[in-house]
Amino acid sequence: MSLTFGFVKETAKGERRVAMTPEGVSKLLKSYPDAKAVIQKGAGEGADFCDALYKKAGAILVASADDIYATSDIVVRVTPPAMGVAAQMKKGALLMGNLDPFGSAKLFSALAKNKVNALSMERIPRTSRAQAMDTLSSQASLAGYRAVIEASSLYKGYFPLMMTSAGSSRPASVIILGVGVAGLQAIATARRLGAAVQAFDVRPEVKEQVESLGAKFIDIDLGEDGSGEGGYAKELSADAKAKQQAALQEILKKADVVITTALIPGREAPELITADTVKGMKEGSIIIDMAAAAGGNCKLTEADKIVVRHGVSLVGHTNYPSMAATDASIFYTGNVLNLMTLLVKDGRLIYDREDDIVDAALTVFEGKVE
Ligand code: NAI
Repeated sequence: MSLTFGFVKETAKGERRVAMTPEGVSKLLKSYPDAKAVIQKGAGEGADFCDALYKKAGAILVASADDIYATSDIVVRVTPPAMGVAAQMKKGALLMGNLDPFGSAKLFSALAKNKVNALSMERIPRTSRAQAMDTLSSQASLAGYRAVIEASSLYKGYFPLMMTSAGSSRPASVIILGVGVAGLQAIATARRLGAAVQAFDVRPEVKEQVESLGAKFIDIDLGEDGSGEGGYAKELSADAKAKQQAALQEILKKADVVITTALIPGREAPELITADTVKGMKEGSIIIDMAAAAGGNCKLTEADKIVVRHGVSLVGHTNYPSMAATDASIFYTGNVLNLMTLLVKDGRLIYDREDDIVDAALTVFEGKVE
C-alpha cells in the first residue's frame, strides 16, 4: 500500500513555520513516486508558501487537520500537537517533528496508548552523519542570526566603527554568553556587522571556535569544567555559578549588547545575569535572552516581551526561527527529507533500530515511551 505523508498547519501561538515547503513536496514525491503528500490548506501561509504552490508541486490540499491525522501514515510537524491527536491517528502511524521530548510526557503516553509511534527530532544525535537531519542546529543557527538582527535594530548606535566628518564612533561591544550553534552564528553575524565581539561558554573547547570567528574568548575561572554528555553542558555547582555571576557583573558593565543562549538539556536555563548585574549595566544597553522559553538566563526577562529594567532593554522573544519563517521552513524541510531516507525504504515505513539515528530519535514505539 502506498504511503501517505501528512502536513498540517502549526497550531502554537505565533508559529509561522511549516514542516514541508512546496519544493520539499516535489522532492518527496520524486523520491517516493507511489506516495501521496497531503497538506492542510493555509499551512504554508505564515512562511509565504501559498496553496497554489503546493498544488503545483503535486500535493493534495485538504481543509481539515482532522482528516490528515486520520489518514496519514507519517505526519510531520514543526512543534508538538494537541493531546487529542493521539486518538485521531491510525495505529502504527508515525508522528514526527520537534516534539519537545522533555515537556511532552503526557502526549507521549497518549500516543503509546493508541499505538501511534513518535519520533522527536531533537533527539537526533549530534554526529557528523546526523548533521543533515539536525533540526536543532538548522533552527538554532537561524535564531542566532535573527537575534543579532533584532539587537541591531533596537540598539541606538552603530555596530561598526564609524569615522565620518561629523565625528567617529567606536564599534559596539557585543557579548555572547553560551557558544553552541546559536551562539556561534550570533558571533559570526555580529562580526559581519562590525561589532567588537566577546564570548563565553562553560565548555572550554569552544575557545578555539570563538577565536576562529574573530571574537575574543572571555576567560572566567569557574574552578570546574562545564562539559556534560554528548557535547552538551552540565549544570554548574553553586560555587561555580556564583563565580560566573560575579565575573559577568564586572564584564557586562561595559557591554552595549548581550546575547545569552545558555541552555542545559531538560533543565531550567542557568541564571547568568542577576538583577544586580542589570542594575550595573549601561543605560540603553540591550540583553537578548535567547533562553527566555526555558526560564531565561536573566530573571528579569519576560517571555515574549521586551521590557526595560534599570534602563536596559530585556528582549524575551521565544521563537526566533519563526521570525525567519521562510528560510527556517526551507531548512527544516531539508532536515525532514534527509531523515526520510532512513525511515522509508522501498516505499515502506520501516523502523531500523540498528540505525543509531532512528534508534535515538524514536520516542514512542509499539506502545512504549522510550
Ligand atoms: P545548547 O543549545 O544546548 O546550549 C547552548 C550553549 O550554552 C552550549 O554551548 C552550552 O555549553 C552553553 N552553556 C550552558 N550553560 C552555560 C553557562 N552557565 N554559561 C555559559 N554557557 C553555558 O547547545 P547546542 O547549540 O545545541 O550545542 C550542543 C553541543 O552539540 C555542542 O557541543 C555542539 O558543538 C554540538 N553539536 C554538534 C553537532 C554535530 O556534530 N552534528 C551539531 C550541532 C551541535
